[in-house]
Amino acid sequence: MPRIDPEAVVRRHRIAPPPHPHWPALAPTDKAALEGRIERLLRERNAVLVAHYYTDGDLQALAEATGGCVADSLEMARFGAASQADTLVVCGVRFMGETAKILNPEKRVLMPDLNATCSLDENCPAGPFTAFCDEHPERTVVVYANTSAQVKARADWVVTSGIALAIVEHLRDRGEAILWAPDKHLGHYIQRLTGADMLLWPGACVVHEEFKGVALERLRRLHPDAAVLVHPESPDEVVDQADVVGSTTALITAVRDMDRKEFIVATDEGIFWKMRQLAPGKRLIPAPTAGEGATCESCAHCPWMAMNALQNLARVLETGENEIHIDSAIRERAVVPIQRMLDFARARTAAQGGKGGA
Ligand code: 13P
Ligand code: SF4
Repeated sequence: MPRIDPEAVVRRHRIAPPPHPHWPALAPTDKAALEGRIERLLRERNAVLVAHYYTDGDLQALAEATGGCVADSLEMARFGAASQADTLVVCGVRFMGETAKILNPEKRVLMPDLNATCSLDENCPAGPFTAFCDEHPERTVVVYANTSAQVKARADWVVTSGIALAIVEHLRDRGEAILWAPDKHLGHYIQRLTGADMLLWPGACVVHEEFKGVALERLRRLHPDAAVLVHPESPDEVVDQADVVGSTTALITAVRDMDRKEFIVATDEGIFWKMRQLAPGKRLIPAPTAGEGATCESCAHCPWMAMNALQNLARVLETGENEIHIDSAIRERAVVPIQRMLDFARARTAAQGGKGGA
């Protein structure tokens, strides 16, 4: 059997970001009517919205107003698992819907658009990845949540950016060698911090990969007092200029709590809605996605997150279409590493006196 070449697999499965969907602007009365219809449908179906920070601000506002949640991918998973609703409507990308279904097989999980994928997920197809893991049986397999259910089913641990560092530290302290997938930037960042033995799958996020180090240096010179906030899916030369590197929640918390007036933000611009809500007086400056070496294939907004809108949300609630289904044998295996992450996060929070979170 020829050995797996992960670089070649990623090259073959590289996807260009699609054009952003064009959602027609709604007149205020039409928007209010649509939101009212969604609220009524949520009540009638005993359904709840679980939205990611990168989705449109209107969706985030509606999720909050109707008792749902707006969160990072770790908290979305926790919320879904704790919810009493019969139906979870996940506004985000497909791996988030799949994680919700894996944790809640008895619940109906709907998504506004099932084509909302993620480049990291696409970069890591289950067949070659499983064969690669089989070539390294001595390594503990740690996969980012941004992967398919089949890839999770092959993993020992699932992590999100909010808990990855703590879990890798834990595995390093136990002397375990790690096979990490799929995000090479996040993996390399954690490897540098922990010194853990990590073999990295070379996937990347098309959105965060567009942040440019040289252009960021220029922008920092224009705003010398701004704090630089970076999601760790970004390249090293961007991470290295950060005052704070962390999950979406960590970056939002930094804007709220840091004693600064200006922030340069290197992550999806959807996050600005929550940042403005929590820190209305502070100035948020998007990190540059153009500059030397820029391909301009992508801007700082995930095209798949942009597939979520009030219009298709109302439709799936009305029709029940776009339900997530997971093969039961895959689910039974995939739930184990996800639950392991949630148990680890709970124990860690408890050890920090209930304050820490992930
Ligand atoms: P978080 O877990 O930090 O919300 O990140 C999810 C994601 O897809 C970032 O691109
Ligand atoms: Fe995936 Fe990147 Fe979009 Fe996050 S921003 S969902 S990692 S493509």
